[in-house]
Amino acid sequence: MSDIDITGVKIDGLKVACIGAGYVGGPTMAVIAMKCPTVTVTVLDISEERIAAWNDEDLDNLPVYEPGLAAVVAETRGRNLFFSTDVEGAVAAADIVFVSVNTPTKLHGVGKGRAADVKNLEACARTIARVSSSNKIIVEKSTVPIKTAETIRRVLEANKRPGCEFSVLSNPEFLAEGTAVDDLFEPSRVLIGGEDKPAGRTAVAQLAAVYNNWVARERIITTNLWSSELSKLVANAFLAQRISSINSISALCERTGADVSEVARAVGSDHRIGPNFLKASLGFGGSCFQKDILNLVYLAERFGLPEVAAYWEQVIAMNEWQKRRFAEGMVSSMFNSVSGKRIALLGFAFKKDTADVRETAAAYVSKFLLEERAHLRVYDPKVRLPAMLSELDYTCGVTPENCPDLATRFVSCASALEACDGADALAVMTEWDEFASIDFEAAFAAMRKPAFVFDGRNVLDHAKLRAIGFQVYVIGKPTSPSATVM
Ligand code: UDX
Ligand code: ADP
Repeated sequence: MSDIDITGVKIDGLKVACIGAGYVGGPTMAVIAMKCPTVTVTVLDISEERIAAWNDEDLDNLPVYEPGLAAVVAETRGRNLFFSTDVEGAVAAADIVFVSVNTPTKLHGVGKGRAADVKNLEACARTIARVSSSNKIIVEKSTVPIKTAETIRRVLEANKRPGCEFSVLSNPEFLAEGTAVDDLFEPSRVLIGGEDKPAGRTAVAQLAAVYNNWVARERIITTNLWSSELSKLVANAFLAQRISSINSISALCERTGADVSEVARAVGSDHRIGPNFLKASLGFGGSCFQKDILNLVYLAERFGLPEVAAYWEQVIAMNEWQKRRFAEGMVSSMFNSVSGKRIALLGFAFKKDTADVRETAAAYVSKFLLEERAHLRVYDPKVRLPAMLSELDYTCGVTPENCPDLATRFVSCASALEACDGADALAVMTEWDEFASIDFEAAFAAMRKPAFVFDGRNVLDHAKLRAIGFQVYVIGKPTSPSATVM
């Protein structure tokens, strides 16, 4: 499938619809609309609230925060980019329908806790088949288990109107939150998988031509459907594996006196290894890594490959251990008890430059410290209290019912200094740039002594903090001999 010729393929006047106006669908469609002004793009969702937010005149209220996104929406919205809840109408009129709905890990039944739940995708396929009276290209954009395209194809085939043909493509998203717009402007690659038969090849060429309006042809990789679907899972598994690898070494650094940043630099300078994704942290989060690896593990088990499943499962086990190790280190450093102590958590998002909290390590650390009866004061530049509480509940099972005094022991603050007021410790959960310029002298003055710093992201100036008087603990760095765990 590497020989698809797109010369002469026209995109002018194409109508594109996208079902799912989330972190992936919203930014991706906004950039397609910007880069392809002759294409009409309609982004659809069942959530009226979400669509209203995308249509809000105040661009600060867009449902997804991404640097650069507001400018793209400002340029395109109302010109050739539209947000609507009229799923049926827009799908019926479209030539290409992207499906970009959420596929969370199953919470029940076969594959519970591992397999991705594709019920939203199936629902979309049924809607598309029901309302379509013209041929369409259906593009699977959600992260899905391998062979999902086959599921979609079969649902479409079984329900389509006579004379109506569908080609199903896989076009996985590789954008990272916080850099989504840049990643879309200049993707490392665009991957398009399709069926190796004439209609499939024509559909691949059509979608490739859309991307080719701003992406060089050699960066558009065309494959068969299964390779495309599997590549998405494998790319995320490889990235996560690098983080778990360096995190495992961070523990060894703390015991031996090596410095994990120095080790990462020395190791990453080998061009065969490369420098990226070697930052030790308190653990990776985000909606993709854990889910995609669990998916890979489930697939391997289903296809009778327990050794493959066990190999990848270890990437997640190491991540769980790292989160627990960080939280346990905080408690043991603070004289084995944080009961009744105030702890300032700086950052709650799973990484900087996003308000997304899905699977954030901060929620795990919060749960651990709440169980130890600490009082948490959380400051995040972009995340508000309801999102924090919802993630604590959804992923960690912490609710007002099972966590005594949650409302008073988990408080959101308006600034880092407010969070530090009267605290015994501050702990960096997210690597927001602004944390480097906190007035740490003022924070120190307002904190109880000894005042502890736990840098879960390795972003603060540790020598300066020690000079101020803080007890400083950093992932993967030599710490004072009194540190028992960290
Ligand atoms: C990821 C993939 O990068 C992207 O290609 C895919 O489409 C979706 O999943 P995302 O989850 O947005 O993107 O964020 P990413 O930058 O990959 O970070 C994931 C987690 O790993 C974050 O919690 C981040 O803080 C952590 N991380 C990343 C580290 O701990 N160390 C690193 O060196 C890099
Ligand atoms: P992602 O990170 O994959 O983009 P999100 O949860 O941010 O995931 O977005 C997925 C969107 O898909 C949500 O806004 C949700 O309301 C929408 N959605 C889910 N199922 C359907 C459906 N059957 N029809 C329309 N929209 C849907």
